[in-house]
Amino acid sequence: MSVLLEAEGITAGYGASTVLRDVSVTVDEHEAVVVLGANGAGKSTLMSVLAGMLPFTGRLAVDGVELTNLRPDVMLSKGVSLVPQGRGTLSAMSVLDNLYVGAVSRRGRADIEADIERWFTVFPRLKERSSQIAGTLSGGEQQMLAIARALMSRPRLLLCDEVSLGLAPVIVQGLFDTLRDINKESGTALLLVEQNAELALAIASRVYLLEVGEVTSTGTAQEFRENDSIRAAYLGY
Ligand SMILES: Nc1ncnc2c1ncn2[C@@H]1O[C@H](COP(=O)(O)OP(=O)(O)OP(=O)(O)O)[C@@H](O)[C@H]1O
Ligand SMILES: [Mg+2]
Repeated sequence: MSVLLEAEGITAGYGASTVLRDVSVTVDEHEAVVVLGANGAGKSTLMSVLAGMLPFTGRLAVDGVELTNLRPDVMLSKGVSLVPQGRGTLSAMSVLDNLYVGAVSRRGRADIEADIERWFTVFPRLKERSSQIAGTLSGGEQQMLAIARALMSRPRLLLCDEVSLGLAPVIVQGLFDTLRDINKESGTALLLVEQNAELALAIASRVYLLEVGEVTSTGTAQEFRENDSIRAAYLGY
């Protein structure tokens, strides 16, 4: 399988504070990968770098082509779309308009409308509230909208930063079933940052462990599930 996204030796942070140190991550086409790590480890910072939102040193390549002058719209045009942690919607716009904005880079109104219907089927709550202003949705509803909006660009790689946070267990299960379908059937690659390690490991084939801004371990999901210290720290059993 060919490498879709390759990040090599990424160092990044905020002003004088360095958060990520020499982080290397790859995602193959159609692959599902999870990044585990404690609060403050730098997971969201890594996602921001990969989405073209934060300056870094190191190398970032899509399809083997190194990208410089990164911006979010550049990454989006390469097929990389981010569901940011806890704030993925345009709060002053309606649910429906958020979905149209997610498809702004696409042509073909009929296809776009078909996709909106598809995500309305997955998230019926969004359909009921299609004309409601996004900022007035509940936290869980906003999370659903953020995911649906990111998917409207038909990404090749969906970066999901804690998409299950604040959602009821029944919704989370449905959401992960959907992510699995998107990965398996549509071939969309996934890079998941997830508190719910159990669910993420059930979808992902590979894992990176991020500790205090460094990748300290990497392996298959199977290896991680069988590792006692990982189980104790991230799976809680
Ligand atoms: N905009 C910012 N300005 C300054 N420091 C920041 C900023 N965003 C994050 N940080 C700091 O960078 C470090 C890593 O934060 P980050 O959000 O990447 O962690 P995380 O692994 O996503 O944590 P969580 O699991 O809590 O979401 C933290 O110490 C955080 O305080
Ligand atoms: Mg985070």
